[in-house]
Amino acid sequence: MALKISVIGTGYLGATHAACMSSLGFDVIGIDVDPAKVATLARGEIPFYEPGLDTLLKEQVSSGRLTFSSQIQDASDCDVHFICVGTPQVKDGLAADLTYVNSSVEAVGAIAKNGSLVVGKSTVPVGTAARLQSRLQEINPQLDLAWNPEFLREGFAVEDTLHPNRLVVGVTNDRAESILKEIYASNLAENTPWVRADLPTAELVKVAANSFLATKISFINAMAEICEAAGGDVTVLAKAIGYDPRIGSRFLQAGIGFGGGCLPKDIRAFMARAEELGAKQAVEFLREIDAINLRARQRVIELVRRDLSEDLRGKKVAVLGAAFKPDSDDVRDSPALDIAVQIQAAGALVTVHDPKAMTNAEKRFPVLNFASSIEDCVRDAEIVLHLTEWKIYREIDPVAIKELVSQAIIIDGRNALDREKWLAAGWKFRALGRS
Ligand code: UDX
Repeated sequence: MALKISVIGTGYLGATHAACMSSLGFDVIGIDVDPAKVATLARGEIPFYEPGLDTLLKEQVSSGRLTFSSQIQDASDCDVHFICVGTPQVKDGLAADLTYVNSSVEAVGAIAKNGSLVVGKSTVPVGTAARLQSRLQEINPQLDLAWNPEFLREGFAVEDTLHPNRLVVGVTNDRAESILKEIYASNLAENTPWVRADLPTAELVKVAANSFLATKISFINAMAEICEAAGGDVTVLAKAIGYDPRIGSRFLQAGIGFGGGCLPKDIRAFMARAEELGAKQAVEFLREIDAINLRARQRVIELVRRDLSEDLRGKKVAVLGAAFKPDSDDVRDSPALDIAVQIQAAGALVTVHDPKAMTNAEKRFPVLNFASSIEDCVRDAEIVLHLTEWKIYREIDPVAIKELVSQAIIIDGRNALDREKWLAAGWKFRALGRS
């Protein structure tokens, strides 16, 4: 008999995990406290943009293997319960808010049948899993807990879930590991590396990986600052150091830095947790990583002031991109939107365009103006800011678009446009880290 699976929390991670597990042939029920979200998913629709997930979800819902409910009792016959709820930053500090993780474990503990395995996927401060394991066994000694961090990237969520580059399982016994091996049998058949760890190491793998990625991005953005000061070109520098396989060329794209629902909050929660553990100094460098990252946003604003005027009141600014990265409609801690809002707050008239994230951006920042086409966005602009590297922006014809703006100045905040092409069309071209 195939294992029955529940996925608790059907946000980005949960909805993707539920659809992917169902596509592997398991019976899956997605549980969420938000009845509206449950109703949307049950119709086979996703409440956010993720390439490929809409088709997969529709297929799985119509196959009958994937259902959704807002009642946790409906998951009581499941063998494995994946916890996929969010752990946002708390409002009054750097730490992660564990309210949803705690309440899901309480809820699942109350309904889970004897012998079932609760598997945490949410990103949590180290030590959480061990505490939850004790709590779960206090509720019912016949329950067990494992931690199985998720490394999916938005925009590649389905691919990363079905074909991860590694599987990490934090377990306290062989039985838990063998249940997880049954679930991930198709990955094991593909020789996906399998790392068995204890609970704290499994939790740490996730924050260590995200801290490393954040460090790599801030490293290249620090080099961008030096290139600007010294008259160098960070894009050439990144290419040159990236050929060293020990360094590698990925995640060396200099620009306005990292945002989104993971990297910024994860490095902050890591600092907060390290301090609690008395190991604050070990990750003190992350404070600098965070600072370099936020400084990149200010550097774009400085460039705008340099090209327009110190006083931005009444200046017309076009912003291309609102999502925190391309192929996503996620605007959580989006560097692009942060820059747009700060420039607007300085008195400029900012118009934003994004192919997918406009609804979310408008919900969050209704003070900004939004244009439904690139042309309307840049019309009469005194400066154009390219802040999220969507493919459609690389395909813009600089000659044609020059007719629409009032001043042909562009700042490439992602180092993704073809500079020569824009220069040839008569634009003043600025970029972070390129003199
Ligand atoms: C990240 C991790 O990559 C993923 O493994 C983890 O599970 C969740 O967090 P995600 O938030 O989807 O995934 O985005 P990612 O692709 O890592 O990009 C994060 C941010 O860094 C984006 O704002 C992106 O624009 C920025 N970035 C990325 C750069 O500025 N330069 C780069 O070279 C790479």
